[in-house]
Amino acid sequence: MLHTNLGINEKGHLTLGGADVVSLAEKYGTPLMLLDKERVRRNIRMYKKAVEECFGKGSLPLFASKALCFKDIYRLAKEEGIGMDAVSVGELFTAEQAGFDLSLAYFHGNNKTDADIAFAVDHGVGTFVVDNEDELRALQAYLETVGKRQKILLRITPGIDPHTHKAIVTGSVDSKFGSAIETGQAEEITRLALSLKNVDLVGFHCHIGSQIFEIDPFTEAADVMLRYIAYIKAQTGFEAKILNLGGGLGVKYVEGQTELDYAAVIKKMAEAIKLRAAAASTAFPLILLEPGRSLVADAGLTVYTVGSVKTIKGYKSYVSVDGGMPDNPRFALYEAPYTVLLANKAGEKANFPCSVVGRCCESGDILQENVSLPSPKRGDYLAVLCTGAYNYSMASNYNRIPRPAIVWIEKGEDRIAVRRETNEDMIRLEV
Ligand code: LLP
Repeated sequence: MLHTNLGINEKGHLTLGGADVVSLAEKYGTPLMLLDKERVRRNIRMYKKAVEECFGKGSLPLFASKALCFKDIYRLAKEEGIGMDAVSVGELFTAEQAGFDLSLAYFHGNNKTDADIAFAVDHGVGTFVVDNEDELRALQAYLETVGKRQKILLRITPGIDPHTHKAIVTGSVDSKFGSAIETGQAEEITRLALSLKNVDLVGFHCHIGSQIFEIDPFTEAADVMLRYIAYIKAQTGFEAKILNLGGGLGVKYVEGQTELDYAAVIKKMAEAIKLRAAAASTAFPLILLEPGRSLVADAGLTVYTVGSVKTIKGYKSYVSVDGGMPDNPRFALYEAPYTVLLANKAGEKANFPCSVVGRCCESGDILQENVSLPSPKRGDYLAVLCTGAYNYSMASNYNRIPRPAIVWIEKGEDRIAVRRETNEDMIRLEV
């Protein structure tokens, strides 16, 4: 099986976290997102331990909650004692409603509006990750008005190519995010931040991209950032206390992809940072990491009911399910690979080549192409594995299709975390 929390039981049904996926599909209806809570917990603990061991106490993982955002996930982050990264007031609000202490929140985004800035300052967000000069001036202006000081990190683009899909590269010089070292703008914004009375510059941030399997881009980014810290210290006397190295570690979605040992990657990063810090005789900063995908992806799967099965003679076959791009736009956007199987025939031989498509009025509504399933029939349950990250959080109501429910699985028990959206929910904003 793709991940160790998946299995096949004596009925030949797929299991997640020990729970029978077919029984849960029958109980809650489809499409349905199942989330293995123990798996998320395990992933968080693994990161937290590795970060603390390699970088010292005070260093912390922050959950990049754009990967999966609903109240309970922030409660879990709180229970496990990690911080969080937010990119919008919506994420901050959700976390706050869940009782998450916003002093542990890092507020990102390349275009924070004046209203966003005011909300975050007023609600006690711990740290702003300031993207650009324009934002820095707007933040300073608001802080001055309300007579507050705000901790900030500056987002710096280190100019690293992480070899991933172009839509999820973020650390290149011409990126829409951050201020580039190469163009001198990183130094300009650093000097500006140091000159402003109401902001308290505590360090720097970089994020090179997402779904990255190579380790070198991470150690190179860490190296570039450490050099930058040393350079700024030499130029201005300012020594960064915090270095946030972002997220981006890849997750295995299909056989053939690597399964990264995250703790080992973190150890390698730590070695690179220690070497560079020693060479540049800068103090070793506290390190923050911002994993999103690698905390939640493998905890989730989506189960659908198979509807029409259609063979176009001499061409191909389509297996249609009762969801699609509204709950999972990742194939449509990135041609993202996924493992699909029939949850009620999990042990059977896959002998039917097909494309799995959704129910939307759009040819691009594809979940996966060129897969094989065991004689798929109307009424079978089809599972798409590893959908815990960037599925629910990117879901839409395209074609007025309601969003699925999310059900937690914990120690064999199942519990609704987010109820299924209804038709009434979809018209609730309309006058
Ligand atoms: N920190 C920052 C500043 C980020 O922009 C991101 C992701 C992360 C952390 C978390 O990265 P992760 O560990 O999840 O790779 N929608 C795309 C992914 C976009 C990622 C955006 N930023 C997808 O479905 O693949």
